[in-house]
Amino acid sequence: EEVVTDVPSLDSLPTIPLFSDLPRDAFIELFERCPLRRFQLGERIIEQGSRGDAFYVICEGKVRVFRTDNTQRVDLAMLEGGAFFGEMALLSGAPRTASVEAGADDTQLLEISAPVLASLSRSHPQVAAALKKFVRQRLLTNVMN
Ligand code: CMP
Repeated sequence: EEVVTDVPSLDSLPTIPLFSDLPRDAFIELFERCPLRRFQLGERIIEQGSRGDAFYVICEGKVRVFRTDNTQRVDLAMLEGGAFFGEMALLSGAPRTASVEAGADDTQLLEISAPVLASLSRSHPQVAAALKKFVRQRLLTNVMN
């Protein structure tokens, strides 16, 4: 894993539905404030059961989400550019509900910390509302799996 130092050109980014209502200046500020992290295929990004203090937006590449239930691996999702993950532990304070690993080389993730999410939710409540909507859907998927 490494931190990418150059800010991505905004034109090369995938559409990020979570930020569709975010004004452009706030969007640019977010990319200036948050580190962009790069992972290679198979690298672990999130460990199920650990504590979480950030969530991630996929700027490039893809990730696999899976759960391990008494040594059995259960695949939950493959997420691609524009999607996000790691929001559940942040919103609930509970341990990470699943593990996440890079599904491609040069997977680039914007890492948004809890304090940055808190201030973003204050200034743009629609982002927090969108996050919660996704959490409900994902929890439902996991109960049924
Ligand atoms: P968190 O629990 O913080 O860490 C693991 C992440 O995997 C979780 O947040 C979600 O972002 C993601 N995740 C868990 N279950 C699913 C699912 N069914 N579909 C997509 N993503 C999921």
